[in-house]
Amino acid sequence: MALVNDHFLKLKAGYLFPEIARRVNAFTDANPDAKVIKLGIGDVTEPLPEACREAMQAAITEMGDPETFRGYGPEQGYDFLRNAIVEHDYKSRGCEISADEVFVSDGSKCDTGNILDIFGQDNKVAITDPVYPVYVDTNVMAGRTGEPDDQGRFEGLTYIPVTEENNFIPAIPEQRVDLIYLCYPNNPSGTVLGREELKKWVDYARENNSIIFYDAAYEAFITEEDVPHSIYEIDGATEVAIEFRSFSKNAGFTGTRCAFTVVPKALKGVTSDGTEQAIHPLWNRRHCTKFNGVSYIIQRGAEAVYSEAGKKQIQELISFYLENASLLRAGLESVGITVYGGVNAPYVWIKTPAGLSSWEFFDKLLSETHLVGTPGSGFGASGEGYFRLSAFNSRENINESVDRLKKSLG
Ligand code: MLT
Repeated sequence: MALVNDHFLKLKAGYLFPEIARRVNAFTDANPDAKVIKLGIGDVTEPLPEACREAMQAAITEMGDPETFRGYGPEQGYDFLRNAIVEHDYKSRGCEISADEVFVSDGSKCDTGNILDIFGQDNKVAITDPVYPVYVDTNVMAGRTGEPDDQGRFEGLTYIPVTEENNFIPAIPEQRVDLIYLCYPNNPSGTVLGREELKKWVDYARENNSIIFYDAAYEAFITEEDVPHSIYEIDGATEVAIEFRSFSKNAGFTGTRCAFTVVPKALKGVTSDGTEQAIHPLWNRRHCTKFNGVSYIIQRGAEAVYSEAGKKQIQELISFYLENASLLRAGLESVGITVYGGVNAPYVWIKTPAGLSSWEFFDKLLSETHLVGTPGSGFGASGEGYFRLSAFNSRENINESVDRLKKSLG
C-alpha cells in the first residue's frame, strides 16, 4: 500500500473553523428554531465594493471579445496590479519595493503555508502563541515538528506567549531561530505592534540572519498612529522579511480570492553547503511551477481597490466593521468583561468570565445566547481563557449580539 504522510496524524482531527462549524451544525440540528449568529470565522458579510464589481464586469466583457480575450496570464500577476500595489501600498509609505518583488496569488492562507516549500527542513521556527493555526499546522504537515504535548504545543517549535501578562508584546526569543511568524494587526487578539517594537524584531532578524514571515492581512484596519502598515516601513526589513497581504478583509474578497506576497530581492538564505542564496528566485520558481495565476477578471477587480472610488468604498467598509467592533467592545465592557483588540483590527479578544475555559465559554454562549465565537485555545495553548469575536457581520446582527451578550453575562 502507498505510504501516507505520517506527520498529518500528529494534527488534531479537524482544522479549527470546520470543527466549530461541526459543533454549530450539531446544535442547529437539535435546535432548528434557534437564530444562531456567527461571530466565529472572520468572514466578511458586506457586498463587494462597486468599483471592484464594475472593473470585473468590464473585464468579463473583454473576455467575450476575441481582440481582448486572455488565456493564461503571468503567474506572478499582471503588471497593472503589481504596479498599483507598489504605488499605493508601498511607495506611498516610503517603502522601496519593486513590482517584480510582488507575487499575486489566491490567498495569504495558501501563501503562508506554501512558503515553507522553499525553506530547509532543519530550520528552527518561532511562532507567537496564540496564533493563526495555519502557521503551526503547515509546519507539522511538512514534518518540522515532533508530537504535541498535552496542551497541544508541538515539540520542535519555539512558542512565544502573547497574553495580557506581557501586554500582548511578544518577547524576542532567547535562543536563535531561523524563521519567525508575526501577524499584525494580530489574528486572533486584534492587538498591534508599534514601530519601536517591530524594529526590535527586524534588528533581531538582521543580527541572527533570520527571516520574518510578516502577515499583514489586516493592515487596512489600523487606525492608530505609529503602527506600521508594512514591515518594510522599518529600515533594513527588505533584507529579512517576506510580507503577506490580502484583499480578503479590506475589499471583501474572501470568496473572490486575491492576495499578494512580497519577496524582496535583497532577502537571502543559505544552502546546506553554506553558500548564500537569494530567496526571490526560489519563490518565483515555486510559484510558476505550482500556480497558474489569479484570473484576469479578479485581478482587474483588485486593481480597482486602488482607484479613487475604490479607496473611498473600502474606507467605508473598514469603518463599518470597526464600528461593529466598537459596539461589541462597549457592550462587553458594560457588563464587566475585559476586552482587547477591536481598535486596529476586526477582532475583539475577551477574557472568558468566571474561570470558564475557552471551549466551556463557547458552549455556554452557543447554548444560552445562540452566538458563535472562536475559543482562544483553538489558536494555541496561550489562548486558553480567551475568546475571539469577529466584527464581520451586519449591523443588525451585531446589535442583536450585543443585546444577547448583555442579557447573558450582565
Ligand atoms: C479567521 O477567522 O481567523 C480567518 O478568517 C481565517 C482566514 O482568514 O483564513
